[in-house]
Amino acid sequence: MATAKDNLIDGRAVSAQIHAETKARVEALARRGIQPGLAFVRVGEDPASRVYVGMKEKKSAELGIRSETFVLPAETTEDELLTLIGRLNADDAWHGILVQAPLPPHISESVVFSTVSPTKDVDGFHPENVGKLMLGDNSGFRPCTPAGVHELLIRSQVDTDGAQVVVLGRGNIVGKPMTAILCQKASNANATVTLCHSRSRNVEEHCRQADIIIAAMGVPEFVKADMVSEDTVVIDVGVNRIEDTSNPKGYRLVGDVDFANVRPRARLITPNPGGVGPMTIAMLLQNTARAAENATR
Ligand code: GUN
Repeated sequence: MATAKDNLIDGRAVSAQIHAETKARVEALARRGIQPGLAFVRVGEDPASRVYVGMKEKKSAELGIRSETFVLPAETTEDELLTLIGRLNADDAWHGILVQAPLPPHISESVVFSTVSPTKDVDGFHPENVGKLMLGDNSGFRPCTPAGVHELLIRSQVDTDGAQVVVLGRGNIVGKPMTAILCQKASNANATVTLCHSRSRNVEEHCRQADIIIAAMGVPEFVKADMVSEDTVVIDVGVNRIEDTSNPKGYRLVGDVDFANVRPRARLITPNPGGVGPMTIAMLLQNTARAAENATR
């Protein structure tokens, strides 16, 4: 009888390990009379953002990180938001600041992300931190989702040295920084990275050559079994809503990978949910502990 292939990368288990490490750092800071503080800023009532920020707040509390969510109405002006960020930048009680994206269309995300102090930019979106990542300078903050994928690969003993990696999607939050992380001349990197996007030719062929596929383009179940060679490691970053009339909500969430059909071919694969998602929060709180340590050196 065929047995299910035990090839899942358990993001919940790996994130629990990282949370335990972060908790120990928070406790060490507490012995010095310091409590890390993480300020969340949410503009408007985007339902997904409410859920995400709620999850981040809850986990912060579990680890002993003080947090507060500053909720601004959707019609807040860019200037008003920048004023709040300036106040949080100047307040030593906040070691980390996270402005949840997406922002309303009249507010420029790049202006907002550039206003958060780079020393408090636990999202890793400030141009100074983006530049450091590109330069291989580890003193900055790395964006949480690609850093989480990197950590998953390392802790699953996936060797990236000389590996062919295909990153699908060129977004600023995942695809571009993921490429920068894995192409560095450094241990746990040293990969040959191909960044495919909506204008790329021969995406399927690139994928078939890959040792590792990281799907982050936001197309439901884009990666099919015939695009994946035997023994490929497949990481699914996608979170897509698709219509599902059989579900009381009218939709269900699927990733960028056709999980059921790809899983039997893959060497390792992340489930969705329970793969990359929990890692994003783990890296955010790890960054926050580091921000607090840096501020008190
Ligand atoms: N929206 C989707 N992902 C993220 C993230 O990593 N950080 C922030 N601030 N907003 C997001």
